[in-house]
Amino acid sequence: MKEKDVFLNVEDLWVEYQSEGECVHAVNGVSFQLEKGKTLGLVGETGAGKTTIAKAVMGILPEIQAKVPKGKIVLEGKNLLAASEKEMLKVRGSRISMIFQDPMTALNPVHKVGEQIAEAVRLHSKGNKKEAQMRACEMLEMVGIPAERYKDYPHQFSGGMKQRVVIAMALACNPELLLADEPTTALDVTIQAQVLEMIRELKEKLNTSMIMITHDLGIVAEVCDDVAVIYAGQIVEYGSKESIFDHPLHPYTIGLFGAIPGFEKDMDRLKSIEGMPPDPTDLPKGCYFAPRCKHCILKCQEMVPMVEVLPGHFCRCFNRPKQEEE
Ligand SMILES: Nc1ncnc2c1ncn2[C@@H]1O[C@H](COP(=O)(O)OP(=O)(O)OP(=O)(O)O)[C@@H](O)[C@H]1O
Ligand SMILES: [Mg+2]
Repeated sequence: MKEKDVFLNVEDLWVEYQSEGECVHAVNGVSFQLEKGKTLGLVGETGAGKTTIAKAVMGILPEIQAKVPKGKIVLEGKNLLAASEKEMLKVRGSRISMIFQDPMTALNPVHKVGEQIAEAVRLHSKGNKKEAQMRACEMLEMVGIPAERYKDYPHQFSGGMKQRVVIAMALACNPELLLADEPTTALDVTIQAQVLEMIRELKEKLNTSMIMITHDLGIVAEVCDDVAVIYAGQIVEYGSKESIFDHPLHPYTIGLFGAIPGFEKDMDRLKSIEGMPPDPTDLPKGCYFAPRCKHCILKCQEMVPMVEVLPGHFCRCFNRPKQEEE
């Protein structure tokens, strides 16, 4: 990617949590770049570190437990990890927003939903109260909720509608970067499709860049441009969606995506792989996937570098299975 096209640059990011006297190595040297208007999918098993990466970008890691020993998160030339809390307050909401998996994390049960959206607008823009209220109504309508429901409380909405409200809130300040952490997991399938379509339309209209965290390969196929496969806090494979679906290279990706490559075929959720991810307080020395890998060789006890195997398509493996056409 040319330097001028890079909107978000995450470089060698490490995050650890202190938990009950132990150190959890949650993110271990993650690097990726995102262009304006593009969507990067983060996929991987539970505990892989996806939410931690998003929280680090948003600057909302829990202060006491989490440490970032190393790394840069550069948004249009500015390293967010070096920014003060005051500067980050401005960045959050106006430049970066996050949609959490559970809508109730973002909604306050004792306030009217419209007011919560208006409050988000007022925090991040100069407009007065009346303008913020109008913007909140406009956003509600945009996500398919009649503006009359401004005065209703979260419990008066269904799960799908609550998630729409959260999306309206996240988009109310026209963020340049949207972090969507499993935004549709809590929804049923039809509402899921509607919400995804809505996110896609809004993104196109506003040219928002997005990081989409999901377990659902159908969502990756539908909304992502690039994909990063995360294992034990490391990117093991990274490339365009087309390249990754057509030529999955890493044994972990091949396992997750099932045996048959190609994204028009049988799309479903990620498959489960035999065995368990490593203990994040005691990671293996070399390849983190080695203990579960059928292709593991002696060399896998050494650190594995990311290698560009196909143009723009990187993989972290010393003994990757050969492709049919190779
Ligand atoms: N506040 C915390 N204190 C201690 N450990 C934590 C904390 N938050 C996350 N972790 C640990 O960090 C690792 C990464 O967690 P994270 O929530 O980022 O994973 P994830 O990929 O988002 O998983 P999921 O798919 O289940 O949402 C896990 O081992 C998790 O137990
Ligand atoms: Mg998560």
